[in-house]
Amino acid sequence: MPKRKFRQFHRPKGMHDILPDEWPYWRKIYKTLSKLSEDYGFSRIDTPILEETDLYLRSTGEGTDIVEKQMYNLKTKGGDYLTLRPEGTPGIVRAYIENGMIGMSQPVKLYYVGPFFRYEAPQHGRYREFHQWGLEAIGGSSPVLDAQIIFVFYIFLKELGIKNLSIQINSIGCKECRPGYRRALVAYYKYKKAKLCSDCRRRLGINPLRLLDCKNPSCQNLAREAPQVLDYLCDDCKSHFKNVLEFLDELELPYFLNPHLVRGLDYYTKTVFEILPEEGKDLRQSALAAGGRFDNLVEFLGGKPTPAVGGALGIERVISLMKTRNIRAEKGKKNQIFFAQLGDLAKKKSLKIIEKLRKSGFSVISALSKDSIKSQLKIANKYEVDFSLILGHKEALEEKIIIRDMNTGIQEVVKLNDLAKKLRQKMRRRKRV
Ligand code: HAM
Repeated sequence: MPKRKFRQFHRPKGMHDILPDEWPYWRKIYKTLSKLSEDYGFSRIDTPILEETDLYLRSTGEGTDIVEKQMYNLKTKGGDYLTLRPEGTPGIVRAYIENGMIGMSQPVKLYYVGPFFRYEAPQHGRYREFHQWGLEAIGGSSPVLDAQIIFVFYIFLKELGIKNLSIQINSIGCKECRPGYRRALVAYYKYKKAKLCSDCRRRLGINPLRLLDCKNPSCQNLAREAPQVLDYLCDDCKSHFKNVLEFLDELELPYFLNPHLVRGLDYYTKTVFEILPEEGKDLRQSALAAGGRFDNLVEFLGGKPTPAVGGALGIERVISLMKTRNIRAEKGKKNQIFFAQLGDLAKKKSLKIIEKLRKSGFSVISALSKDSIKSQLKIANKYEVDFSLILGHKEALEEKIIIRDMNTGIQEVVKLNDLAKKLRQKMRRRKRV
């Protein structure tokens, strides 16, 4: 038999393990986002991680970075072409149509959270596997929905303790007025092609709006003088945008009109927005949340004409910002205690006592495979629990246990039968201090 070499495997480039240390952030974020989504009337939806490749070609758009460069495509044994979802909106719209949600009371407000995949050059804030929380309101044309989506993302960030945010907003018109703007842009750039980067020269014929948000300095100089979309909006788009801004004013949200904000996906109409940390508002990979209206997508994917608006937030970017701003996630769980044991008899009784505590509502951490009390209490310190329980041989014989206050070091011996009651009293007292 050939000799097998041992080899160590690594995670795929641009993808990450979410280690236990990171989980307090994720837990807090999942908890906050599901509560906020439900409080604002969004219902949870989960769609497959794989969808037909054609879904993204038709909706995200063939001229976009996502479709041109970033999709993980595969061909199944049965000959189907599938893609690891690079974003959520196309799958949600597909599910809306396929499951007959047009028959439900409109708008249908949905939220989702999970992994997404884009084959990008990995860098800070840009990964190949990342997680999004998305909100979509399908079947409503009112500008109040645009404002509500922006507001929910904004207060989510506030609730996590993230301040100094910048909301950038723009309108990119609809199928009535955008062609006129497109023509104006193409005419403007016609004799300036030599000054454009190669990407923009190519994009000019496919999607000239994308030239406005190119980060190349020479393209940025040209974009500054380019015709502005707001001057080309039809009356309907103008009035919609004005209304969205009025709702944002009413909510006292700090927004900025950014005429160069066009977003990289094809399906947007009217409102587009991004929420960024103040310090990163010039960096492309710093948007924490982004989205906009997509009034034509449902029809484009085979449904009835149905207006819609939504957005998505990048969870890794939020966590990274919390860390750089020293915002702590929840420490430990509520009612968390540590259980330590010493001696064979105590160890034997441990599992039963822990289960009894769990049933009484406590979350019990232990290190049952360890024998030394010192090393067990070291672990208790790491978890920052307020109370540890110590069961020694003597206590095990007498049906008693020691409660140790980890902040003061004071210990009290209590009867096992009184343990849950005593612990609750101590925890209540601690909260009051
Ligand atoms: P998006 O701007 O492509 O929009 O992504 C939304 C958010 O996901 C970004 O603002 C960012 O926080 C995060 N994100 C995107 N790509 C990466 C990456 N490679 N690494 C880390 N985070 C990333 C959409 O996906 C649209 N589907 C949003 C939407 C929903 N529009 C309407 N409804």
